[in-house]
Amino acid sequence: MAETDQARPLSPRSNEEKALETMEGRRKIKQCVCVTAMFLLLIIIVIIILAFTVFKIKDPKITTNKILLTNLDLNIIQIPTPQVKLNMSLLIDMSIKNPNIASFKFDNSTTSVYYRGILVADAQIPSGLAKARKTLHLNVPVVIMANRLASSPDLLKDVLEGKMIMNTYSILSGIAKIWFIKKDVVVDMNCTMTINISDRAIQDINCQHKVIL
Ligand SMILES: *[C@@H]1O[C@H](CO)[C@@H](O)[C@H](O)[C@H]1NC(C)=O
Ligand SMILES: *[C@@H]1O[C@H](CO)[C@@H](O)[C@H](O)[C@H]1NC(C)=O
Ligand SMILES: *[C@@H]1O[C@H](CO)[C@@H](O)[C@H](O)[C@H]1NC(C)=O
Ligand SMILES: *[C@@H]1O[C@H](CO)[C@@H](O)[C@H](O)[C@H]1NC(C)=O
Repeated sequence: MAETDQARPLSPRSNEEKALETMEGRRKIKQCVCVTAMFLLLIIIVIIILAFTVFKIKDPKITTNKILLTNLDLNIIQIPTPQVKLNMSLLIDMSIKNPNIASFKFDNSTTSVYYRGILVADAQIPSGLAKARKTLHLNVPVVIMANRLASSPDLLKDVLEGKMIMNTYSILSGIAKIWFIKKDVVVDMNCTMTINISDRAIQDINCQHKVIL
């Protein structure tokens, strides 16, 4: 009896409580879902902002700082026919600026030198790494192939006029990577310059940089 007396008034109360509890529970779940959704939204917004700022891969920038004439030995031989004998080498000072928060790794690349459309030198740029937010300096020595240069019918005239116009063409390809985001980058650079023979100097260097995607 005592048990049922106790049990009767108890059970409706516990039902009410249960109902209240479930309502409370639902409200809490709703609140929780809401907070979680807002949190997720916030995370998504942060990811989007990061993707467009810090994690956006920017193209590395190549600059030619200077081109030096390290050697120029030039003679005009009159016999049997007037011709130019020369020994010439250059040093190309380049830099690669990596604006990203991760490193830029580039493969073996080449720098070619042309004189009036004739390839007169080919220099190798060894593969390397431009560290995050750093500028890497590269000094590329180039030895001009004299016989190639001499094969041009314009050489004697240019030498007599005191200047030779040449252009250097460098192409660099590599991968810029930030965590799992990767981007293939190919940059090239074409510089035109005038070699002042009497001064043994290089003047009017004009470079054009390009990013090929
Ligand atoms: C060209 O000059 C360099 C450095 O002065 C020298 O070592 C080389 O033997 C020269 N080459 C020729 C073909 O004269
Ligand atoms: C880069 O050059 C080095 C040395 O000349 C060579 O061992 C390596 O195989 C080259 N790598 C590529 C990808 O050409
Ligand atoms: C070579 O340089 C000298 C001195 O700077 C200059 O007077 C001369 O005009 C230049 N020659 C050419 C062909 O530009
Ligand atoms: C580099 O520039 C020169 C002069 O503007 C041009 O004649 C030459 O074709 C260019 N070379 C390349 C590989 O774009």
